Amino acid sequence: MSTTHDSPGTEAVASGTAGATQSSWPLDRPSFDHRKYVPYLPIVLRDRTWPDRVIEAAPDWCSVDLRDGNQALVAPMSVEQKLELFDLLVEIGFKEIEIGFPSASQTELDFTRRLIEERRIPRDVTVQVLTQARRHLIEKTFEALDGVERAIVHVYNSTSPVQREQVFAADRDEIIRIAVEGARLVKEAAAKRPGTRWIFQYSPESFSGTEPEYAVEVVNAVLDVWRPDEGQPVIINLPATVEMTTPNVFADQVEYFCRHVKDREHIRISLHTHNDRGCAVAAAELGVMAGADRVEGTLFGNGERTGNMDIVTMAMNLYSRGVDPRLDFSDMKRIVEVYKRCTSMPVHPRHPWAGELVYAAFSGSHQDAIRKSMAYHRQHGATKWEVAYLPIDPRDLGRRYEEVVRINSQSGKGGVALVLERDHGISLPKWMHPVISDIVQREADRTGREIKSAEIRALFDSELASVPAGWKLVGYDSKSEQQRTVGHFHVATADGDVTLTGEGQGLVEALIDAIERRLDSSLRVIAFEEHALQSGTDAQALASVIVSVGVEQSAACAIDEDSAIATMQAVLSAVGRTGARLRTDLRAAAAR
Ligand code: KIV
Ligand code: ZN
Repeated sequence: MSTTHDSPGTEAVASGTAGATQSSWPLDRPSFDHRKYVPYLPIVLRDRTWPDRVIEAAPDWCSVDLRDGNQALVAPMSVEQKLELFDLLVEIGFKEIEIGFPSASQTELDFTRRLIEERRIPRDVTVQVLTQARRHLIEKTFEALDGVERAIVHVYNSTSPVQREQVFAADRDEIIRIAVEGARLVKEAAAKRPGTRWIFQYSPESFSGTEPEYAVEVVNAVLDVWRPDEGQPVIINLPATVEMTTPNVFADQVEYFCRHVKDREHIRISLHTHNDRGCAVAAAELGVMAGADRVEGTLFGNGERTGNMDIVTMAMNLYSRGVDPRLDFSDMKRIVEVYKRCTSMPVHPRHPWAGELVYAAFSGSHQDAIRKSMAYHRQHGATKWEVAYLPIDPRDLGRRYEEVVRINSQSGKGGVALVLERDHGISLPKWMHPVISDIVQREADRTGREIKSAEIRALFDSELASVPAGWKLVGYDSKSEQQRTVGHFHVATADGDVTLTGEGQGLVEALIDAIERRLDSSLRVIAFEEHALQSGTDAQALASVIVSVGVEQSAACAIDEDSAIATMQAVLSAVGRTGARLRTDLRAAAAR
């Protein structure tokens, strides 16, 4: 556990890493040894307020897919790919989109010009471009934006001790001078182009590794130039350029910043978190609780190294707790397709909300709970979604319930029965569930893979509903008198049609009696059920039965328009499936 830096008063402002300069670990010796790394120092903010806040409204979103996301691709997007992705971002509902770094490459410049000259930027969308705080780059950036109606010019320089000391060899004052000069150049260039409504954005890059009081000092110096208090729209963007701590520390940094920066009421505070520790979304969420108004990120978290903050996840997290995300992900399938086509990046099958497998339940207990929970919903006419194991209704994102229960060797009996009923309209009695489930499980174990719905149906047909050779009922006639039924049952065997005769209370008993007379063993019906499969005049009947013949047990089903035929065939099939044989004198016996 690291210790905190404490200082008098309500707030102490130490942050970043501890003991960086004390480490004597030999960097030239590779080893898996955690002592090589420096514990971080949380800042002490005793009166922090963010933990008690709840996010009740979505922040303003800014997509940086076309800039930060693009910069991180093995093969950066072409102009055509960027145009396709831009249109998708607009469709999703982004109102601010960082389109690139036009001073850095010809493609970025061409893309910016295409958007402006072909009037592809909707009136309610503001494009943003990035530039370093250097004169020639700022000039080039403004030239790239010539003719745009409204734009955010995003200027940045790095402020953390590691960057100051090791990368720029510049002290605190020098870094402030670079920031102020950048701000001045942006203001000057904008003033020369009054036809555009300019919004200025400044990022103290590596903010999360910067001493909080120093980050405030740098930004205040920038604000002194831009004067948001006099009406200039300004965004201050706080990047976790490299994620270095648990997200609560980032939230403390944001709350500290919001409380100390000047002109807070005149500026928008934006967050830009990266995912080095896998917590970029959490950091942005806590950062919004800590006072930020705006969040930058990318679809599916594409971006440098482990990526940027994943806007799909953060927006859907809000959606799933009843907050309007102000982004529309209802056509997630298409969003994933376009994203993959444009970036050549995959979307992980377990990606929150969007992954192919995230609404699938293979485990029997989960399937059972989902089935019961959904039934409970229906019975109680629930108006709010609270379903076990399903944080949202998958249909909201264009998914189908069919995808939820999927079958492999981990699945239980309820799941297989549910697939048969849901996809094939075959609702088996509960005592039949283990029977079909065992059949499917054997197949799953044999193949070692998922068993698809059509295969489950085929297994049902071949293992339960097919008629074993020699046991096909081809006709029957019966007569009932004083509750006694005498039946003659015509069965197709290898030796031709034969007739079995028996009697009992009703047709089924008469059939059982008829079969038993021709078997060497006793026949017992253990479970039996017959019901209509569909409503309507051409309804089909499903009969299911488990019988024992001697010590053998077997199950069978039969489907027929005539419920009596379905019933009798199910019994015959079940007996036939035990391997039992009718006595060879059947023909003679039947003829008597
Ligand atoms: O991650 C980062 O710090 C950036 C800045 C340029 C905002 O992308
Ligand atoms: Zn970034």
